[in-house]
Amino acid sequence: MRWSVGAWASPERVRKAGGVGGGRCRVGLRLETVDHHDAENLSLLRFNALWESNYRHDSLLVFSTGRSLTLYKELRKEKPMLTPDITIMSVGTEITYGKSMVPDDGWFEILSQKWDRNIVIEEASKFSELKPQAETEQRPHKISFYVEKEKAQQVTKDLSERLEKRGLDAKIIYSGGIDLDILPQGAGKGQALAYLHKKFKSEGKLPINTLVCGDSGNDAELFSIPDVHGVMVSNAQEELLQWHAQNAKGNPKIIHATERCAAGIIQAISHFNLGPSISPRDVMDFTECQLEHVNPGHEIVKFYLFYERWRRGEVENSESYYASLKVVCHPSGVFIHPSGEELSLHDSIDKLKKCYGDRQGTKYRVWVDRLLPTRISNDAWLVSFDKWESTGEERQCGVVTTLLRSKASARL
Ligand code: GLC
Repeated sequence: MRWSVGAWASPERVRKAGGVGGGRCRVGLRLETVDHHDAENLSLLRFNALWESNYRHDSLLVFSTGRSLTLYKELRKEKPMLTPDITIMSVGTEITYGKSMVPDDGWFEILSQKWDRNIVIEEASKFSELKPQAETEQRPHKISFYVEKEKAQQVTKDLSERLEKRGLDAKIIYSGGIDLDILPQGAGKGQALAYLHKKFKSEGKLPINTLVCGDSGNDAELFSIPDVHGVMVSNAQEELLQWHAQNAKGNPKIIHATERCAAGIIQAISHFNLGPSISPRDVMDFTECQLEHVNPGHEIVKFYLFYERWRRGEVENSESYYASLKVVCHPSGVFIHPSGEELSLHDSIDKLKKCYGDRQGTKYRVWVDRLLPTRISNDAWLVSFDKWESTGEERQCGVVTTLLRSKASARL
């Protein structure tokens, strides 16, 4: 796990500011989410459901990772990760925007000032303790090695002195009890976040709340950014805990969660009172969570959770679910399959009825990503999203657009 979710701003302020990135942003959140010990990815799926149902429409999700784009893409294939609004990669040396990952050239330019990677390579090669990492992890503003824990401190000190003598202002970061990264002094996950904050501020769109989440040494500087809330997940590495003990002990804005990874983030959202903190995945009976306002995101997330549970045979095979589905679907509604085939919504509910329990005892999961509701009238929304289905080994994604109309009497 080497990760980051987002940042936040309060609803009123965001609305006034027009949102970040074209009209949305309540919270900026940077997240350490990926748990390699959670084979079923349950905490990540819990987080996904919470984010898409309550935050996606007005908050910013920022992933911040030590990995290069190559390794990040590999991880995305393995884990049910959402698409962040902003991705910070290679220990804060690369920033991209959106699904298509448009690079921030301004950040690249800033980091290129006073930086010479040849000098770093030359000086680092004088240390036999430093073993180069894979070629994919060597980036324009990041040179990475492995070094044993016992030797890390001394090597860092000696290498810094050497680089300084060569007139290079570099930053050396030790993470995970093994990785040593050399970056320009102005780089790093914290600096990248500070750069984004500055950019948002100049556009009048600074998120009101920012929650940073981390687990390793390269996350430490995130916690030093002014005005952020921070959570060190329960599985945080020794070097981060040590940094905290020496630099931020007693700071009420930073907590050490008792939960691992994404579950630690949910815990922090609740602890700091940043907004809704109950994941729809933790709710079995949705009649208990009637919302004050219509929330299209929540309706979609709820429906697909029901769909997953229905096919896994985890809800009762009851006529009442079947009947209420019919009530919520418009009688003349049509489901259009990507192949172009059309089926009336009521017929597709009949089809669904036959699928009860067909995924029982399997790793079948469903989640949604990039959920975007567009209000088209007082009581209607066009909602587009990516719907993912995974059987464990294989996954499929469908791009869905659906029309939702609020109807107080019809709730699943
Ligand atoms: C990731 C990167 C690696 C880096 C480490 C710590 O694992 O792949 O290059 O050294 O994070 O920042």
